[in-house]
Amino acid sequence: VIESVKAREVFDSRGNPTVEADVILTDGTLGRASVPSGASTGELEATELRDGGNRVEGKGVSKAVNNVNTEINDALKGVSPFNQAEIDQIMIDLDGTPNKARLGANAILGVSMATARAAANALGTPLYRYLGGVNIELPQTFHNVINGGAHADNGIDFQEFMITPLKKTSFRDGLEKIANTYHTLKKVLEDAGFQTGLGDEGGFAPDMKSTTEAVEMLYKAIEQAGYKPGIDIGIALDAASSEFYDKDAKKYNFEGHSFNADEMANYYKDLKKKFPAIISMEDPFSEDDWENFAKFTKDFGDQVQLVGDDIFVTNPSIFRKGIKAGVANSILIKLNQIGSVSETIEAIRLAKKNGYTTMISHRSGETEDPFVADFAVAVSGGQLKAGAMARSERIAKYNELLRIEEELNGQASVAQFPNDVDAD
Ligand code: PGA
Ligand code: ZN
Repeated sequence: VIESVKAREVFDSRGNPTVEADVILTDGTLGRASVPSGASTGELEATELRDGGNRVEGKGVSKAVNNVNTEINDALKGVSPFNQAEIDQIMIDLDGTPNKARLGANAILGVSMATARAAANALGTPLYRYLGGVNIELPQTFHNVINGGAHADNGIDFQEFMITPLKKTSFRDGLEKIANTYHTLKKVLEDAGFQTGLGDEGGFAPDMKSTTEAVEMLYKAIEQAGYKPGIDIGIALDAASSEFYDKDAKKYNFEGHSFNADEMANYYKDLKKKFPAIISMEDPFSEDDWENFAKFTKDFGDQVQLVGDDIFVTNPSIFRKGIKAGVANSILIKLNQIGSVSETIEAIRLAKKNGYTTMISHRSGETEDPFVADFAVAVSGGQLKAGAMARSERIAKYNELLRIEEELNGQASVAQFPNDVDAD
């Protein structure tokens, strides 16, 4: 059983404080996990409890840490770590708010993840096996190689330009192709006169103005690396359009235009026509624009995967409404949007039951904890986005998957896009 729960303040990849939690079992087993943090957060995400005030720009998490060390510790002492749903429910009830605002989603998620680790460690089982089953599949990875929007100080309105290995003989082979393309992209950008400093997720943050230009650079990089766009390497975009949507005017302020939803939809369609290697678009419409997201899904959802991130915030009850409304055909899954392991798994189940694909995701603020990589394997998530082939907090996730592939010694399959949705 759980002997004690303890948290501390550590720092994330942007130098902001975050919660690291330890769960210690009576036999001495330790489970440790740390919590990521977003920049372009959905309005309805669970509450990340921050101290405010002057210390570290008000971003301290000492209140969340204290909640772990006092109330959560008292509530979980003596409880079995092997019933994840029970552990999570105890904390949800203790918090008592609909969005984990009192104790903090960062406090609750840290303990939730650390409990899963402690349980896995106690059994001597890898995390991806403890949380998962026997059918082990390594995810299709999506790598954000050009950063814009809230992740970089450049003029690009779209937040993420990702590449993904379509043809691969193994997970390692896919990753190697991405590394080759990433390195080539650097040269392509340099040749075109752009700076090659990095954004928050390890992608380049060139000061270019248009989405088209960014995708053109990806095409060039893929080809110069010796691959075929759309055959060997696919392209995925996260518009993160809530960031450039004007709620009151109902307009998308995009690249100097003030687009209504139909104009935005036509823009996306033209983009796909011009660049057929684009296989996935995330948040093409705002979290406040359900109607047009649904309309676009009906209209264009058979041409491209449409991923809902800010609009669903990994929240099973919001997602249920989204499914009914016909919004998107894929859901982005972020543990800290909802704030516990078992609620995240519930959202994934809901997706599979309703024919939605799932893309498991890191946050733009990350730590060295590879939890999300194990998690993506455990839930047969099919897809994982965890950043470019740079910055150790991103690479930690991919290296974890390389280790898992090695450990399974050829027994694991690797997801191929588009992923079959296995309804279970
Ligand atoms: P965030 O970005 O972690 O800054 O929210 C990731 C995303 O929008 O997918
Ligand atoms: Zn997103």
